[in-house]
Amino acid sequence: MPLVTLRQLLDEAAKGGYGVGAFNVNNMEQIQAIMEAARETKSPVIVQASRGARAYSNDNFLYHLMLAAAELYPEIPMVLHLDHGNSFETCKSAIELGFTSVMMDGSLMADGKTPSTFEYNVEVTRKVVELAHSKGVSVEGEIGTLGGIEDGHGAGGTGLEHVTDPDQAVEFVEKTGLDALAIAIGTSHGAYKFSRKPDGAVLKMDLLKEIHRRLPTTHLVMHGSSSVPKELQDIINEYGGKLKQTWGVPVEEIQLGIKNGVRKINVDTDNRLAITGAIRKVFAESPEKFDPRDYNKPAREAMHKVVAQRMVQFGQAGHAGDFQAKSLADYAEFYKVSK
Ligand code: G3H
Ligand code: 13P
Ligand code: ZN
Repeated sequence: MPLVTLRQLLDEAAKGGYGVGAFNVNNMEQIQAIMEAARETKSPVIVQASRGARAYSNDNFLYHLMLAAAELYPEIPMVLHLDHGNSFETCKSAIELGFTSVMMDGSLMADGKTPSTFEYNVEVTRKVVELAHSKGVSVEGEIGTLGGIEDGHGAGGTGLEHVTDPDQAVEFVEKTGLDALAIAIGTSHGAYKFSRKPDGAVLKMDLLKEIHRRLPTTHLVMHGSSSVPKELQDIINEYGGKLKQTWGVPVEEIQLGIKNGVRKINVDTDNRLAITGAIRKVFAESPEKFDPRDYNKPAREAMHKVVAQRMVQFGQAGHAGDFQAKSLADYAEFYKVSK
């Protein structure tokens, strides 16, 4: 199947009442892990690349790997999405390369850490929407900022310092015309989200419900949604790693989010942990090995397992064949007439 738009995938998810995981990639093995998990669970997929991933792999490698995936997995609808675009130019270059969806994260300034003003956010996001929609490409924006700064994106702190204001969320959606809205309800990026076992009140679910009540047809996005499972932390530490004890977002909280309008769920850290644990295990148990395939294969398999599990938990499993792909030209026309 050709690459599809985020808008189509999330409209379908809203119809079916499920969520779709958006998994970050930097290399071939991660793309393969996601595609195998998608085939196994019959899931539509969102593959996303950050600015760091684009720099690491060189855009063209990633893009052509995605085309290979589209050829090899024709039954799987897939979106190629830019994660945390920091400026109009970053989004523009992704659109020109062939990404079918971009995130303009105007909640932060272009440095990725300084909270911006509402006016700046509206202006830069609206400009990206105008360009993207003229080409049929989807846009995710963000209002409120995530905590943490571990991976270079976030306003620091706990994640509760700049939560989304529902009035601003409504105004932001009206003024920008975006397709999906990332909100801040207490999550942060990276492994160190919570320093004690979370209870049912770790995330601001009432705030999420209020935003969904006010914007019932807007697709909501949850960033920082890794669950940071203890089993994955333990494997790393058992084989020489030094992670401090930490807790992520419980899957049940994400499932509650999905019941309240969350359609896209961003997961990166869990896959990083799975890959690192598998590689450490080979290094520790077979120090004589030096063929990269000896550790890349189990690493890819470990990520595949995590992704397949999330696909089932988020409810996207079984939905790959529900619809026919629409083209970017179809969406360009759709945005033109719905203006
Ligand atoms: O939100 C960020 C993702 O985890 C990607 O992180 O910028 O280190 O590639 P990165
Ligand atoms: P995690 O660090 O929780 O995996 O979040 C990833 C993310 O939000 C990517 O945009
Ligand atoms: Zn994020």
